[in-house]
Amino acid sequence: MSTNVLLLGGGGREHAIAWKLAQSPRLGSLSSAPGNAGTAQYGENLAGLDENDGAAVVAAAARLREALAIVGPEAPLAAGVADALRAEGVPVFGPSQAAAKIESSKSFAKELMHDAGIETGHAATFDDPEAAMHYVRRFGGEHVVKADGLAAGKGVAVCDTPGEALAAIEAAMVGGVFGEAGARVLVEQRLRGPETSAHAFTDGTSVAHMPFSCDHKPVFDGDRGPNTGGMGVYSPPGWLAEEDARAIECEVTERAVAALSASGREYRGVLYPGMMMTADGPRVIEFNCRFGDPEAEALLPRLRSDLLEICEAVAHGRLADVKVEWSDEATVGVVMASGGYPGGYETGLPISGVGGSDYGVQVFLAGAQRDEAGVLRTAGGRVLCVVASGASLAEARATAYDRVRAISFEGAHYRTDIGAREGGMDGGA
Ligand code: AMP
Ligand code: GLY
Repeated sequence: MSTNVLLLGGGGREHAIAWKLAQSPRLGSLSSAPGNAGTAQYGENLAGLDENDGAAVVAAAARLREALAIVGPEAPLAAGVADALRAEGVPVFGPSQAAAKIESSKSFAKELMHDAGIETGHAATFDDPEAAMHYVRRFGGEHVVKADGLAAGKGVAVCDTPGEALAAIEAAMVGGVFGEAGARVLVEQRLRGPETSAHAFTDGTSVAHMPFSCDHKPVFDGDRGPNTGGMGVYSPPGWLAEEDARAIECEVTERAVAALSASGREYRGVLYPGMMMTADGPRVIEFNCRFGDPEAEALLPRLRSDLLEICEAVAHGRLADVKVEWSDEATVGVVMASGGYPGGYETGLPISGVGGSDYGVQVFLAGAQRDEAGVLRTAGGRVLCVVASGASLAEARATAYDRVRAISFEGAHYRTDIGAREGGMDGGA
């Protein structure tokens, strides 16, 4: 029996998911909403469908028989799209709105961590800007000011001085730069150390941990410049101590899954704690309720098992019945971005050199679409992610950059140091 998948999202992560699903003998049709030029290689794109509109997504799923919905990004989950689908009997890979709150409300995540005994930085939550500013003035020091709600990865200000923290509070709570998401802010203790992303499949009861990976958020080499959605990724981080890895799996991921389940919040999908390895031990920076992007691009090529089988098992609450196996290979993913990103950028520029796939290298398209003539053109900030596998990180890195140099579009920029400083500094604040 085959399964017809409705995949929500349209980034590099969704191309990687589509690519992996297409390797499954169980896949019937694949429909992506809105999709991109990458997902279009494996099925139809429902470009006009708003992935955050529960009723529209339910209607699209109803047109597919034997459908499974897989939700890529956080916004549809926070909007309750998974709940709308489940209410109509469509199995979904993606948590309920109540469980997705672990990402969509940082104050909820802090409370959950507090109650479950999960280590994280101290933070105070404020609904009143005066009170938040008073707190910063009183305690001084270095703070991180975070918008409570979803802010497309831009709601976090890492501040060197109290003055910067006051300005960040003002911008979020008075200036409203993050809209509703910034009406409540957290003022958090600034932590230091290298960062790593933990990912796990879970059906709310069983947990299958994925390998660790590391994102590179700042736009320029050497972690300089403003933060982006992620400029590159590698897996595994050889610098991560085995005992720290196990501690994160047991004392963070598994505890969070148990706490969500105990509170009656249905969690079926990927849980991804973003971690900082401090001198005092691993600390949670944030929880995400979905695959990271670009982390998915580096993780899925390492997955040996059938992704569709795993997603179906998760959706039906029987993850314990399937095998989830990973290769020992290393992967490095380099993002090529539009000129100006993460600020303003032009779109519609022709992309050359993407070509077919070479052995051990994938070009996952993100902000890229084909025009009527079939020409591949830029359509977003992060345009694509070149991912290579290798016996070592150095080998994967060399292969990835060889492929990157063959691709071009006007204004293209990328970091040249992805996975290069394997000493634990990558991604470190
Ligand atoms: P987020 O949007 O929550 O992923 O945060 C973006 C980045 O801000 C993280 O990857 C960290 O580099 C940084 N960050 C978040 N929280 C803290 C913290 N408590 N201390 C230092 N840096 C932080
Ligand atoms: N790579 C960071 C994120 O997906 O949130």
